Amino acid sequence: MAETKRYYVTTPIYYVNDSPHIGHAYTTLACDVLARFKRLDGYNVHFLTGTDEHGQKVAKSAAAAGMTPQAFTDKVSQNFRDLADFMGYSHDDFIRTTEDRHTRACQDIWQRLLERDQVYLGSYAGWYAVRDEAFYAEDELTTNAEGKKVGPSGAEVEWVEEPSYFFRLSDWGDRLMAYWEENPDSVLPKSRMNEVKSFVKGGLEDISVSRTSFDWGVPIPNDDEHIMYVWLDALINYVTATGYPDLQSDRYKTFWPADLHMVGKDILRFHAVFWPAFLMAADLEPPRRVYAHGWWTNEGEKISKSIGNVIDPIDLVNRYGLDQVRYFLLREVPFGNDGDFSHRAMVGRANSELANDLGNLAQRVLSMVAKNCDGQVPAVDMNAFSGDDQALMESAYSLLPQVREHMDVQTFHEALEAVWRVIRAANAYVDHQAPWKLRKEDPVRMNQVLYTLIESIRQIALVLQPYMPDSCARMLDQLAIPVDRRTFEFMDAAHALVCGTPLPRPEGVFPRLSDEAEDGGDV
Ligand code: MSP
Repeated sequence: MAETKRYYVTTPIYYVNDSPHIGHAYTTLACDVLARFKRLDGYNVHFLTGTDEHGQKVAKSAAAAGMTPQAFTDKVSQNFRDLADFMGYSHDDFIRTTEDRHTRACQDIWQRLLERDQVYLGSYAGWYAVRDEAFYAEDELTTNAEGKKVGPSGAEVEWVEEPSYFFRLSDWGDRLMAYWEENPDSVLPKSRMNEVKSFVKGGLEDISVSRTSFDWGVPIPNDDEHIMYVWLDALINYVTATGYPDLQSDRYKTFWPADLHMVGKDILRFHAVFWPAFLMAADLEPPRRVYAHGWWTNEGEKISKSIGNVIDPIDLVNRYGLDQVRYFLLREVPFGNDGDFSHRAMVGRANSELANDLGNLAQRVLSMVAKNCDGQVPAVDMNAFSGDDQALMESAYSLLPQVREHMDVQTFHEALEAVWRVIRAANAYVDHQAPWKLRKEDPVRMNQVLYTLIESIRQIALVLQPYMPDSCARMLDQLAIPVDRRTFEFMDAAHALVCGTPLPRPEGVFPRLSDEAEDGGDV
């Protein structure tokens, strides 16, 4: 199958015990921007998201809601689908771990591990944090303010003693280290690679991969007392969605191994250590990259249900606009770092960078074209551009390769910064060239200037589509670019705007957000 130009990107699958919040919206947004970028860049893309529905935590939430786990997960999984639809994400598949296709994949992987002597029966006696669905060693625990034992994430632990199958993780340290040496970008950012390497250097122990004290999970094929440990079950979703265990399916052959698992920093170890080890042990290829992003706080405070400061992405979008929120989340914080959400910063960026820098540029240039060029792409001599004109256009034409490089290492904020350098240069060029003066003095020159500007705006609007799909579509409509000429192959000079093309009446794309919003308030 076509090895080149395919891109498989995944979000974590979300626990259904929680309502969707900004953290979920953020991880999926980053994947959505990548998926859109790769599609426009000519890749066959598969973009997967979904819900993680088994395990003790979900079983407990179902019991608390007085529902069976199946009825509960059917209901709450829908909230995540609704969020994805509301946010306009472009995922190709939404997987639920309670689906039959997933049970088949889990049981097949288990069988492969069993056949290769990678799992064995023993018994577990140790600590377990239901909130994290994670086993912790004694030396990872601390005591919290209420005197309770907690894991590194602050989640309370309980003592568990039960028969359990173990995975021979301790056999895989050297193979993991060798894989990382050969594929230095397979865990990003670099600091996270260092983190997983030092975890492995500290020595790996075999891990428990089945439970017997409750039954909400995938039954393991060789022993009906056990269900599969929820993290092994959950990670397998990424191969399930490729059609596995059918190794001959087109989708599996095209898309496995995944190009990118995007995750939050809290679940790095599961994805970057356990998952590749499970896969290699089952004789399957590990993912090409795991990227762990940072966490958001709200106005400087940790986001938590008990503090009551959870940010609902739907409220955010209703208040500020979808593209404004998409832009803000990927611009405010260098991707990979932790960041803080504040109303002031949100409104500040929407007004200064979207309404002023980009919105005004497009609006004033297109209004001048409407008024002074009969509403058509101005007639120009392609050989008469000045040094300044050429400098601006060249910087606009250099955007695609620059943004592509950033996308390939997930530096979303730097890609935006590169685009804004051109937007700022275009604004400075308008001020300097003063086309409104040229109208009387030198209309031929005015046309050259306005053409330079709208062709640069075309580049900007095309390359920004993955970040702000709706607003860019409106800008491209105003430049009369047909919908089938918006992929990146049309960004070169050979497809530049054609003189004399009639343009629709311009209208503003980025409204200024009101002072009321600027004053802040609760989202
Ligand atoms: N079910 C597991 C993932 C299994 S993947 C095989 C899980 N689910 S989760 O719903 O708890 O978290 C999903 C994602 O949301 C994680 O990537 C996590 O980092 C992210 N976030 C949760 N809160 C967040 C913030 N405050 N900020 C940014 N992302 C955060 O873990």
